Amino acid sequence: MQAGPGSRGGGVAKHIAVVQGPNLNMLGKREVGIYGGKTMDAINADVAAEAQRLGVSVEFFQSNGEGELATFIQQCRGRAGGILLNAGAYTHYSVALRDAISSAEVPTVEVHISNVYKREAFRHVSLIAPVCIGQVCGFGPYSYILGLRALIEERLDPWLP
Ligand code: DQA
Repeated sequence: MQAGPGSRGGGVAKHIAVVQGPNLNMLGKREVGIYGGKTMDAINADVAAEAQRLGVSVEFFQSNGEGELATFIQQCRGRAGGILLNAGAYTHYSVALRDAISSAEVPTVEVHISNVYKREAFRHVSLIAPVCIGQVCGFGPYSYILGLRALIEERLDPWLP
Protein backbone atom coordinates (compact mmCIF):
# COMPACT_ATOMS: atom_id res chain seq x y z
CA MET A 1 0.00 0.00 0.00
CA GLN A 2 1.31 3.48 -0.80
CA ALA A 3 0.91 6.85 0.90
CA GLY A 4 -1.67 9.17 -0.60
CA PRO A 5 -0.71 12.33 -2.45
CA GLY A 6 0.24 15.22 -0.20
CA SER A 7 1.26 13.07 2.73
CA ARG A 8 4.60 13.80 4.30
CA GLY A 9 5.73 10.30 3.52
CA GLY A 10 4.40 10.40 -0.05
CA GLY A 11 5.26 7.22 -1.93
CA VAL A 12 6.47 5.43 1.17
CA ALA A 13 4.97 2.04 1.89
CA LYS A 14 2.37 2.10 4.65
CA HIS A 15 4.22 -0.78 6.11
CA ILE A 16 6.03 -0.95 9.43
CA ALA A 17 8.58 -3.56 10.48
CA VAL A 18 8.54 -4.34 14.20
CA VAL A 19 11.93 -5.68 15.22
CA GLN A 20 12.57 -7.38 18.55
CA GLY A 21 16.10 -8.01 19.68
CA PRO A 22 17.78 -10.45 22.05
CA ASN A 23 15.88 -12.03 24.94
CA LEU A 24 12.61 -10.32 24.07
CA ASN A 25 11.32 -13.74 23.06
CA MET A 26 11.55 -14.49 26.80
CA LEU A 27 9.11 -11.77 27.81
CA GLY A 28 6.47 -13.06 30.17
CA LYS A 29 9.01 -15.33 31.87
CA ARG A 30 11.99 -13.02 32.05
CA GLU A 31 12.48 -10.60 34.98
CA VAL A 32 8.76 -9.96 35.27
CA GLY A 33 9.38 -7.37 37.98
CA ILE A 34 11.06 -5.22 35.31
CA TYR A 35 9.38 -6.24 32.06
CA GLY A 36 5.96 -7.42 33.26
CA GLY A 37 4.08 -10.59 32.49
CA LYS A 38 3.11 -9.98 28.88
CA THR A 39 4.67 -12.22 26.26
CA MET A 40 6.26 -10.89 23.09
CA ASP A 41 3.47 -12.49 21.05
CA ALA A 42 0.85 -10.66 23.13
CA ILE A 43 2.68 -7.35 22.67
CA ASN A 44 2.97 -7.98 18.94
CA ALA A 45 -0.76 -8.75 18.78
CA ASP A 46 -1.54 -5.40 20.44
CA VAL A 47 0.75 -3.63 17.95
CA ALA A 48 -0.93 -5.44 15.04
CA ALA A 49 -4.38 -4.38 16.31
CA GLU A 50 -3.29 -0.74 16.67
CA ALA A 51 -1.66 -0.82 13.22
CA GLN A 52 -4.86 -2.15 11.72
CA ARG A 53 -6.82 0.67 13.38
CA LEU A 54 -4.35 3.16 11.90
CA GLY A 55 -4.44 1.61 8.45
CA VAL A 56 -0.87 0.39 8.19
CA SER A 57 0.44 -3.11 7.69
CA VAL A 58 3.03 -4.60 10.03
CA GLU A 59 5.45 -7.46 10.04
CA PHE A 60 7.33 -8.87 13.00
CA PHE A 61 10.88 -10.13 13.33
CA GLN A 62 12.76 -11.34 16.39
CA SER A 63 16.31 -12.54 16.70
CA ASN A 64 18.85 -13.05 19.43
CA GLY A 65 21.64 -12.59 16.89
CA GLU A 66 23.21 -9.25 16.07
CA GLY A 67 24.03 -10.28 12.50
CA GLU A 68 20.51 -11.54 11.80
CA LEU A 69 19.07 -8.30 13.13
CA ALA A 70 21.47 -6.26 10.97
CA THR A 71 20.55 -8.30 7.90
CA PHE A 72 16.82 -7.89 8.54
CA ILE A 73 17.19 -4.12 9.03
CA GLN A 74 19.15 -3.88 5.76
CA GLN A 75 16.36 -5.75 4.01
CA CYS A 76 13.83 -3.15 5.18
CA ARG A 77 15.44 -0.63 2.81
CA GLY A 78 12.97 0.45 0.13
CA ARG A 79 10.40 -1.99 1.50
CA ALA A 80 9.22 -0.64 4.86
CA GLY A 81 8.06 2.90 5.60
CA GLY A 82 9.35 2.66 9.15
CA ILE A 83 10.96 0.42 11.74
CA LEU A 84 9.90 0.07 15.36
CA LEU A 85 12.94 -1.38 17.09
CA ASN A 86 13.57 -2.78 20.53
CA ALA A 87 17.20 -3.73 20.15
CA GLY A 88 17.39 -5.03 23.73
CA ALA A 89 20.93 -5.14 25.09
CA TYR A 90 22.42 -4.43 21.62
CA THR A 91 21.07 -0.90 22.06
CA HIS A 92 23.89 -0.19 24.44
CA TYR A 93 26.88 -1.40 22.45
CA SER A 94 26.14 -2.46 18.89
CA VAL A 95 27.89 -0.36 16.29
CA ALA A 96 26.73 -2.95 13.73
CA LEU A 97 23.05 -2.26 14.41
CA ARG A 98 23.61 1.47 14.42
CA ASP A 99 25.30 1.21 11.01
CA ALA A 100 22.52 -1.06 9.71
CA ILE A 101 19.91 1.56 10.67
CA SER A 102 21.95 4.33 9.02
CA SER A 103 22.47 2.41 5.83
CA ALA A 104 18.89 1.14 5.57
CA GLU A 105 17.65 4.75 5.47
CA VAL A 106 14.32 3.69 6.96
CA PRO A 107 12.99 6.00 9.69
CA THR A 108 13.35 4.10 12.96
CA VAL A 109 11.89 4.58 16.42
CA GLU A 110 13.76 3.08 19.37
CA VAL A 111 11.52 1.43 21.94
CA HIS A 112 12.14 0.00 25.41
CA ILE A 113 9.72 -1.54 27.85
CA SER A 114 11.63 -0.40 30.92
CA ASN A 115 12.87 3.08 31.75
CA VAL A 116 16.51 2.42 30.94
CA TYR A 117 17.55 5.70 32.61
CA LYS A 118 16.36 4.47 36.00
CA ARG A 119 18.53 1.37 35.66
CA GLU A 120 22.25 0.52 35.54
CA ALA A 121 24.56 3.17 34.06
CA PHE A 122 25.47 0.96 31.07
CA ARG A 123 21.82 1.12 29.97
CA HIS A 124 21.92 4.93 29.89
CA VAL A 125 23.91 4.84 26.67
CA SER A 126 22.19 4.14 23.37
CA LEU A 127 24.37 3.76 20.30
CA ILE A 128 21.30 3.66 18.10
CA ALA A 129 19.54 6.78 19.43
CA PRO A 130 21.49 9.19 17.18
CA VAL A 131 20.31 7.35 14.05
CA CYS A 132 16.68 7.01 15.20
CA ILE A 133 13.90 9.59 14.93
CA GLY A 134 13.28 9.30 18.65
CA GLN A 135 13.07 7.01 21.62
CA VAL A 136 10.17 5.79 23.77
CA CYS A 137 10.95 4.01 27.02
CA GLY A 138 9.50 3.26 30.40
CA PHE A 139 5.84 2.73 29.56
CA GLY A 140 5.90 -1.05 29.64
CA PRO A 141 4.41 -2.71 26.55
CA TYR A 142 2.56 0.55 25.84
CA SER A 143 5.95 1.95 24.70
CA TYR A 144 5.42 -0.01 21.48
CA ILE A 145 1.99 1.56 20.86
CA LEU A 146 3.35 5.04 21.55
CA GLY A 147 6.31 4.33 19.29
CA LEU A 148 4.08 3.07 16.50
CA ARG A 149 1.87 6.15 16.68
CA ALA A 150 4.89 8.46 16.82
CA LEU A 151 6.47 6.72 13.84
CA ILE A 152 3.33 7.00 11.75
CA GLU A 153 2.69 10.59 12.85
CA GLU A 154 6.24 11.65 12.06
CA ARG A 155 6.73 9.67 8.94
CA LEU A 156 3.37 9.16 7.39
CA ASP A 157 1.25 12.03 8.72
CA PRO A 158 -1.59 12.80 7.95
CA TRP A 159 -2.54 9.18 8.06
CA LEU A 160 -3.38 9.20 11.73
CA PRO A 161 -7.06 9.68 12.46
C1 DQA B 1 15.12 -3.36 27.04
C2 DQA B 1 16.17 -2.65 27.92
C3 DQA B 1 17.56 -3.21 27.65
O1 DQA B 1 18.49 -2.56 28.49
C4 DQA B 1 17.60 -4.69 27.95
O2 DQA B 1 18.86 -5.22 27.64
C5 DQA B 1 16.52 -5.44 27.26
C6 DQA B 1 15.19 -4.87 27.24
C7 DQA B 1 13.69 -2.90 27.36
O3 DQA B 1 12.81 -3.14 26.54
O4 DQA B 1 13.45 -2.32 28.43
O5 DQA B 1 16.72 -6.56 26.81
O6 DQA B 1 15.38 -3.05 25.69
